[in-house]
Amino acid sequence: MRRIFSGIKPTGHLTLGNYLGAVRQWVEVDQHQADALFSVVDLHALTVDHEPARVRRLSRQAATLLLAAGLEPARCTVFVQSHVDEHTRLSYLLECTATDGEMRRMIQYKEKSARERAAGGSVRLSLLTYPALMAADILAYGAHEVPVGDDQVQHVELTRDLAVRFNQRYGRTFTVPKAVHPAVAARVMDLQDPTSKMGKSHAETAGIVYLLDEAEVVRKKVMRAVTDSGSDVFYDREAQPGVANLLEMLAACTGSKPAELAEGYTSYGELKKDTADAVVELLRPVRQRHSELCADPEYVDGVLRDGAERARELARPTVDAAYAAVGLMRPV
Ligand code: TYM
Repeated sequence: MRRIFSGIKPTGHLTLGNYLGAVRQWVEVDQHQADALFSVVDLHALTVDHEPARVRRLSRQAATLLLAAGLEPARCTVFVQSHVDEHTRLSYLLECTATDGEMRRMIQYKEKSARERAAGGSVRLSLLTYPALMAADILAYGAHEVPVGDDQVQHVELTRDLAVRFNQRYGRTFTVPKAVHPAVAARVMDLQDPTSKMGKSHAETAGIVYLLDEAEVVRKKVMRAVTDSGSDVFYDREAQPGVANLLEMLAACTGSKPAELAEGYTSYGELKKDTADAVVELLRPVRQRHSELCADPEYVDGVLRDGAERARELARPTVDAAYAAVGLMRPV
């Protein structure tokens, strides 16, 4: 059976970008069509300055939100990355497979390290080696497909390269995965700055819709979205990034096409109002289910315990095979 792996990093509250770019596809498509594993990748959250209690809280919140969004433990495996040691065991072997040049070429590394340095901070070594851990997440499970938003495609490409190289050097050990992403909303942009991605770790929150925002907050954020000069509504990401972003959001919420939607509008105000309504309706059941699940922490614990157990069982043989393939002595 086709295997799918994807993950989400608990560095902030989950956003509409995470939902439309990734989680919704996990819920609506992936868990029904494949043996799918979804992980709250908490080790990745340690690659930047972090507060321990916040990471712990956000990890739990992310796991709860994944269930609230509709992942069903009977259909897929949901777990926390640090509960399964195989990820870090394999990550080291992949650091021994990758080159530092490859890691330094990653756009996310360039952007994040530049930001850290500009703010006078230092860059953690793990930010550079991040893609080796991400590759380990994917390769440990022999995943064929990795559903992600646009911004993660380069990391998945690197994972492919590492898998191929490892297999060539040491014999066939890993499945070579590929990235898959949704047709619409693979890149949801910030409402206040529609040329940059809506990101959960951004400090400025006015342009970010969080899954747990109250309906009124969502409405305000969408109604205050930056639009473009002029007043005609048409779909052109280059010329009208703000309007294009709203059209894509509305299209993703309503299952239609952004260019076709544009034809029905003569003003930005109407477009914003309909987009706000659609987003509020989309998120309403997720918020509701989230609050129900918060009242039942044992249920969430149980799901994560079972998930980690299954993940361990699946990952161990592949990681053991990789250890043997590179020439490490088996424990005696
Ligand atoms: P993360 O936590 O930043 O994001 C989780 C998923 O949400 C997608 N996404 C978006 N999609 C559309 N528009 C946006 N504005 C937007 N923001 C985020 C991301 O593309 C991603 O699919 N490195 C990964 C986590 C990870 C992972 C993995 C993913 C670690 N190991 C293995 C897949 C497989 C990350 O930081 O995602």
